[in-house]
Amino acid sequence: MPSMARPRVSALRGAQACMRVCGVWRSASSWADVVQTAKNAVASDSTSAAQGAAAVSSLTHDPLAVVGQDLSVLRQSISTLLGSGQPSLDRIAKYYFAAEGKHVRPMMVLLMAKATNGLSAAWGMQRAHAIGEDVDKPMNRESVLNDVNPTPPPPPSPTAPRPLPAQYEPKLQHTILPTQRRLAEITEMIHVASLLHDDVIDASPLRRGAPSAPSKFGNKMSILGGDFLLGRASIALARLRDPEVTELMSTVIANLVEGEVMQLRAQETVSERVPVTDLMSTMPSAEELERFWTAYAPSTRDAAVAPTRHQFQVYLQKTYLKTASLMAKSACSAAVLGGCGEWATQSYAMSATQRADAAAVCDAAYAYGRHVGMAFQLVDDLLDFHATTEAFGKPSGGADLKLGLATAPVLYAWQELADSPLGTLVARRFSEPGDVEQALELVHRSQGLARTAQLARYHTEAAHKALAVLPASDARAALAQLNEQIITRVK
Ligand code: FPP
Ligand code: MG
Repeated sequence: MPSMARPRVSALRGAQACMRVCGVWRSASSWADVVQTAKNAVASDSTSAAQGAAAVSSLTHDPLAVVGQDLSVLRQSISTLLGSGQPSLDRIAKYYFAAEGKHVRPMMVLLMAKATNGLSAAWGMQRAHAIGEDVDKPMNRESVLNDVNPTPPPPPSPTAPRPLPAQYEPKLQHTILPTQRRLAEITEMIHVASLLHDDVIDASPLRRGAPSAPSKFGNKMSILGGDFLLGRASIALARLRDPEVTELMSTVIANLVEGEVMQLRAQETVSERVPVTDLMSTMPSAEELERFWTAYAPSTRDAAVAPTRHQFQVYLQKTYLKTASLMAKSACSAAVLGGCGEWATQSYAMSATQRADAAAVCDAAYAYGRHVGMAFQLVDDLLDFHATTEAFGKPSGGADLKLGLATAPVLYAWQELADSPLGTLVARRFSEPGDVEQALELVHRSQGLARTAQLARYHTEAAHKALAVLPASDARAALAQLNEQIITRVK
């Protein structure tokens, strides 16, 4: 399935290390067995896949019990990262962090770090270097506040061998590295920056149960506040000194914009084909399209009046870009920072098997994040038809329809009720009086909501299967529970 594959950082390929790391590698055979068993489970039929999922969920742990303490310091740490000498900028940049968010993305990063640390043969080296990095150096130094460009230390040469760590400490496996904590913060900063911009685009009056940033501070300040967050997130990202993570997280920012533009264009011309970069990882897989769209299409359907396969494909691609990309690439980045990335595996003299195992960990983290992200957005689109604005803390009860958006429940309802006025309503973007109410009624009359829920459940199960590649741990169990919480959430 092409969409399962995480994008490779080709620029890092070919960097060969000449170091031999003695005594720090875990037994390749036992770990290789784990990976192979899990790969078999993932590739096999639905019966054994279901068994794999059941094995994953047999351990249940509350995510907050595993990383709750880490999350409580996250908000304070972000506040430090966002300090600005401009009081109005300082206020808006921190505004959405003051409200109680779900913190799904940083939680996922912290849990993935715990679930994958120690799995790479390069873990000991990576840990030693992460602790030596300057991630915690304050950004709001006088020089930065007064706009004097600080002089950063030169980045390490990609081909230079790294020195051996003084000592490898296996007991520190399953801890979280400072670089991974910072990644969790960066992830939340990018997410909140996108919300600051999104609430301007959607003219949304509410966010997290309170007035949105644009309604409190105005559109201009919201845009500038989002830009400021991205700037500070970029400094923090650069300080991780990991080119693969920089590339992954910068791609997320581009993907968020691509997803938003795709959504805007879809509002203008429903069937427009929008080419996006990075196609392999952004497209839905053939299996997803077949099972959740083509299988339902009556053969006699007139393509001129019914929603096309391409429209559904565009919807899924947009969903990946605006929501799942951030979760996929940040979960993957957590594993990369733990030594499973291309840079680490090529910088240390690892065997081919060890490199393949480390890559399998990154792929699993990526697949988990992608599927959780897809399920998250599908549930969001579903809840727009169920939740009330009060319960959701943001506009609901047909808010997407009011923005002219045809999400999965509408596309499915339209496919099923092809002779109804739904196609006309979609074409004019629910813009005439009574359109939203009529569309709501048609969607509720159809199987659209049930089929969207089935699609979301498919992604939840695929995320469970991805976790089977990782060894059992509290963190893996918590990731499984986080996945379940997302599909069963009501807000
Ligand atoms: C919420 O979607 C919005 C997003 C998931 C992404 C928005 C992205 C941009 C505005 C592009 C700019 C990006 C950056 C990083 C500055 P929604 O409107 O469906 O959900 P909502 O109901 O929570 O608003
Ligand atoms: Mg919005």
